[in-house]
Amino acid sequence: MVNSEEFIPEAIVEIRKAVGGHRAIIALSGGVDSSVCAALAYQALGENLYPVYVDTGLMRKGETEKIQQAFHYMPLTIVDAKERFVNALKGVSDPEEKRKITGELFIRVFEEEAKLKRVDFLVQGTIYPDIIESEGQIKSHHNVGGLPSEVAFSGVVEPLKYLYKDEVREIARALGLPPQISERMPFPGPGLAVRIIGEVTEEKLHIVREANEIVEQEILRCKPWQTFAALIEKGTGVKGDVRVHGWIIAVRAVQSRDGMTADVLELSYDVLRKIASRIASEIPDVARVVYDITPKPPATIEFE
Ligand code: XMP
Repeated sequence: MVNSEEFIPEAIVEIRKAVGGHRAIIALSGGVDSSVCAALAYQALGENLYPVYVDTGLMRKGETEKIQQAFHYMPLTIVDAKERFVNALKGVSDPEEKRKITGELFIRVFEEEAKLKRVDFLVQGTIYPDIIESEGQIKSHHNVGGLPSEVAFSGVVEPLKYLYKDEVREIARALGLPPQISERMPFPGPGLAVRIIGEVTEEKLHIVREANEIVEQEILRCKPWQTFAALIEKGTGVKGDVRVHGWIIAVRAVQSRDGMTADVLELSYDVLRKIASRIASEIPDVARVVYDITPKPPATIEFE
């Protein structure tokens, strides 16, 4: 386990040494990795750090507002790229293609900001499992190896690259970040796009976002490592006395140490029943709710 009392001052010195008196940019997603990284980099660089949050429209309910609040003390730039992402994903149903498109567009949008801000350095919250999984090519992770091509950074600083997720949380606590951040679940770079099987549309995004909010409200208190809703396909159901062709929502809740392997969280039947009933009644277009009982392996945690 990392020793935060040693790690924090060392990381700050290292960032300062790497960036010198220059300007650096960081993509802040609100996740624990980029938040810790931004907090360290802000301590190291102060006003020479430009944190940028790209609103891809693939985020969870209220996420942009929460990030704005949590980082109000930094000069945070919020880029509204919702339309660009939905347009880029139109007609695309292959999972790897979706990951590639969201990853590349994210970099392009971020690159535009880097150019505008005329920064020299890039600070990234890459952690150790990101590097291993990318090397093993289990899935293309959108936050690794995606160096902006058009912007010639003088250097890239990755202060967390030897840490596991639980170590990053430890640093977050030691830095005094609020529990909403230090204990926050991981959220994939491509966001809700990999929690929708097949093509991403505004309608599906709306439904999976609402379902996810209910899942979080009901399952977070059961202390999962990660929990979320995914939208599968359409199936037949009956609402009122009428047969409907409604969406199928899958609920996922897992225990894990670092996301490399995962066990299914054993939820009580009461909790499961309540989630099914809330999702099916509060979201009119959902006809069926299922609970994913597959560990990783053989399933991955995300659906795509
Ligand atoms: P999988 O689905 O590969 O996920 O079992 C393992 C962990 O990684 C998260 N994940 C990602 N995180 N960019 C990220 O930063 C990504 O592209 C990405 N894909 C998956 C996932 O949520 C889980 O915690």
